[in-house]
Amino acid sequence: MSVTGSRRPLSKKESRRSLLRKMFNWSAAAVALSLVYPLLRYTRFRVKPKPRYVTVNGPLPLSGYHAERDFILFADNETAIAVSRTCTHLGCRINFLEDKDYIECPCHQSRFTRQGKRITGPAEKDLPAYAVEIQKDQQGSTTKYVVELI
Ligand code: FES
Repeated sequence: MSVTGSRRPLSKKESRRSLLRKMFNWSAAAVALSLVYPLLRYTRFRVKPKPRYVTVNGPLPLSGYHAERDFILFADNETAIAVSRTCTHLGCRINFLEDKDYIECPCHQSRFTRQGKRITGPAEKDLPAYAVEIQKDQQGSTTKYVVELI
């Protein structure tokens, strides 16, 4: 008879102890979680989301802007800026009015500059801006804009 690999059956006392130990461990884990969660909320701990990169082929049309679902990209020969399309008032999707040269929210008519600065309206904050990397070819003309959405 080989002893290796075989286990002797647990007695009732041992089995009860094992069960109590497991219950204690689970209770300790639940208590630890219930203490850690409010602490993380209190310290406003957030896991930073991974940035998402969106590529826009360049150069942009003469109007100098390009609207995507999440942002509006403005660019000239040297600079580029992308601003969020989500209104800082109640979250409607905003539009750039080319003839008036400002961004307007269709819901309550908050207005913003091309740089996302608030001009007027119920929105109290500026639009978030995103970093834009301009990629150029060997002749120096713009081929792509890479927008980093956070
Ligand atoms: S949601 Fe944009 S102004 Fe109200």
